[in-house]
Amino acid sequence: MASPLKKLISTFLFLLSSTVIMVASSEPLCHPYKSIISFGDSIADTGNYLRLSDVNHLPQAAFLPYGETFFQPPSGRYSDGRLIIDFIAEFLGLPYVPPYFGSQNVSFEQGINFAVYGATALDRAFLMEKGIESDFTNVSLNVQLNTFKQILPNLCASTSRDCREMLGDSLILMGEIGGNDYNYPFFEGKSINGIKELVPLIIKTISSAIVDLVDLGSKTFLVPGNFPIGCSASYLTLFQNAKEEEHDPFTGCIPWLNEFGEYHNDQLKNELKRLQKLYPHVNIIYADYYNSIHTFFQEPAKYGFKNRPLAACCGVGGKYNFTVNEECGYRGVNYCQNPSEYVNWDGYHLTEAAYRKIAHGLLNGPYATPAFDWSCPGSASVDKKYSFSS
Ligand SMILES: *[C@@H]1O[C@H](CO)[C@@H](O)[C@H](O)[C@H]1NC(C)=O
Ligand SMILES: *[C@@H]1O[C@H](CO)[C@@H](O)[C@H](O)[C@H]1NC(C)=O
Ligand SMILES: *[C@@H]1O[C@H](CO)[C@@H](O)[C@H](O)[C@H]1NC(C)=O
Repeated sequence: MASPLKKLISTFLFLLSSTVIMVASSEPLCHPYKSIISFGDSIADTGNYLRLSDVNHLPQAAFLPYGETFFQPPSGRYSDGRLIIDFIAEFLGLPYVPPYFGSQNVSFEQGINFAVYGATALDRAFLMEKGIESDFTNVSLNVQLNTFKQILPNLCASTSRDCREMLGDSLILMGEIGGNDYNYPFFEGKSINGIKELVPLIIKTISSAIVDLVDLGSKTFLVPGNFPIGCSASYLTLFQNAKEEEHDPFTGCIPWLNEFGEYHNDQLKNELKRLQKLYPHVNIIYADYYNSIHTFFQEPAKYGFKNRPLAACCGVGGKYNFTVNEECGYRGVNYCQNPSEYVNWDGYHLTEAAYRKIAHGLLNGPYATPAFDWSCPGSASVDKKYSFSS
């Protein structure tokens, strides 16, 4: 029945509307955040640790193959390329978030990053009192937050913006943080019961950082939980003497370690719920890194990863391509041909391919709770969308 012209028009409209839909899933319809302010550890470190390091003792991430896929020469990121925070910045149409430490003559108007490789939620001195060594950095969450508070007046002045307003239209990335508070004692051979005692202290530290920022005017927080550490090449190597039946037969991960990650996450989620009730005008979003990553191990093919993707791409030795002190970035340590088929990059950190998929699952669902709303009611771009889809 349809005339060729009608067909042509409907094809044209179809292409037009599918273009709009494609755009909608790869970037927001409007840009509700003018800036990203980030606190955390290596999962979000865009170069702080590298700049804080002694030039004669540069960290692994200063060397290839770090940055092999993206950011050559290496930027100090702990991956072969972009991190979750980089994909969030791309999605929001913002520049990659510049590291605060050691940056000179850089504009922080559209983002500032305090996340440092090795950083803990709890202060180093406090952990030392508990017999836990944290050798890499003393830039804990409190140190990051206090640094931010100190420079805030200058930051607002330099951008000639009201501080509350500036914080109000920023997306605060609060973490991931706390993972190292557990990594250190696990790798120092401490008992799980002792480590569990840290959980409420860590949650409290994250919570009070959020409250401080709410008091300063922040309105949107993205707060990630812990990884499924029982699927991590470093932990699988640490517990390599675990019996066959201690592993999940399907994924090969170690369930009791994953349960520890979930234990932290459950407490974090409860605390975020409590804060959300206390501050109804603020949007506190939980980022479910755990389940997002866990599905990569449950259904690797669906996400483009190789079968049983537990081994690190960059590393050497053992069942999981991981050996302490022979890690990625050291001389003579090789990396795989196809990083995009690996979840794990260097034993602890993930590949760009994994980080890209995690970011997608946060921004477009289903791994952010509550989900982001990119429709920005009343804006012109929304009206456009509705006129095409009708
Ligand atoms: C800082 O950046 C501005 C603008 O890009 C430039 O004009 C100026 O020369 C720079 N100053 C230094 C010390 O690099
Ligand atoms: C952290 O360590 C640096 C260098 O070792 C030192 O200068 C600084 O005072 C320490 N900061 C804190 C908060 O302990
Ligand atoms: C281990 O890493 C090497 C590079 O060092 C890579 O070629 C190899 O494929 C990796 N092994 C596994 C099991 O993934």
